[in-house]
Amino acid sequence: MAYNLLKGKKGLVFGALNEQSIAWKVAQRAVEEGAEIVLTNTPVSIRMGTIDELAKACNAPVIAADATSVKDLENLIDQTMEHFGGKFDFILHSIGMSPNVRKGRTYDDLDYDYLAKTLDISAISFHKVIQVARKKDAINDWGSIVALTYIAAQRTLYGYNDMADAKALLESIARSFGYIYGREKCVRINTVSQSPTPTTAGKGVLGMEDLLDYAERVSPLGNASADDCAGYVLTLFSDLTRKVTMQNLFHDGGFSSMGMSRKAMTTYGKGLEVEYEDIRLKK
Ligand SMILES: NC(=O)c1ccc[n+]([C@@H]2O[C@H](COP(=O)([O-])OP(=O)(O)OC[C@H]3O[C@@H](n4cnc5c(N)ncnc54)[C@H](O)[C@@H]3O)[C@@H](O)[C@H]2O)c1
Repeated sequence: MAYNLLKGKKGLVFGALNEQSIAWKVAQRAVEEGAEIVLTNTPVSIRMGTIDELAKACNAPVIAADATSVKDLENLIDQTMEHFGGKFDFILHSIGMSPNVRKGRTYDDLDYDYLAKTLDISAISFHKVIQVARKKDAINDWGSIVALTYIAAQRTLYGYNDMADAKALLESIARSFGYIYGREKCVRINTVSQSPTPTTAGKGVLGMEDLLDYAERVSPLGNASADDCAGYVLTLFSDLTRKVTMQNLFHDGGFSSMGMSRKAMTTYGKGLEVEYEDIRLKK
């Protein structure tokens, strides 16, 4: 059901690779809510993924840009403004990648060139996007910028590796730039901390299936899907949240406030029984 929440608004969406992508759902829902959008991704993701289908459905142009390249971002913002005939209202940063995770390097054996790439792609690109947009005065007053993050920024989760450090930096950038852009132009900047979600990036996380199951059992409302996430992000692009800025907002079915749940305890207990049985048989 649509509410016309974004009627008359214009926005730029990074990170739609395929229909599992969180950015894909945000793009679809934003258009349903009355927004006009521009889509962007890296040239290789545009080639390998299915963004053209989304572009057709959303009547949106696709402009290639590597979010780590300031030159690409300058061209992207110029072209986006040209397309819209002026400033626009919102940006979604939905970008994450760790070469260390991809190459199976564990946190106690990081390759530092890869770490630099992880931080550049997954966090510093957020700074670059905002800095370029601000220098070009691309965002309307009371605009909204959102990036997606994960609770591994605050708590250690097995297997999340150097992406945890990238997310901590990403959330800090939202606060630091949120102050500057807020006081000047009332542009708000927030991060949304999403449940584990079965997307291409998500599936790269070590033990993702178990993590999804664990989070589902621990969260009183269950895991938030990519579509749920899109709904929440749209409220942050809308005028209903004009005074929300510099926040890390958990969108995780309650996971972040839980310690142990009955469902998880039951499963853990069953695991212990198996473990005790193994020990007894070995004696
Ligand atoms: N899937 C999860 O479990 C989960 C949970 C919390 C937060 N997130 C975050 O959500 C965001 C979106 O990820 P997703 O789960 O939809 O996966 P996804 O794989 O669909 O999206 C990741 C996107 O990042 C893009 N990207 C990578 N390098 C880039 C670069 N240099 N420049 C521009 N774009 C680049 C990819 O092309 C891809 O479109 C990421 O920030 C991710 O960390 C995901």
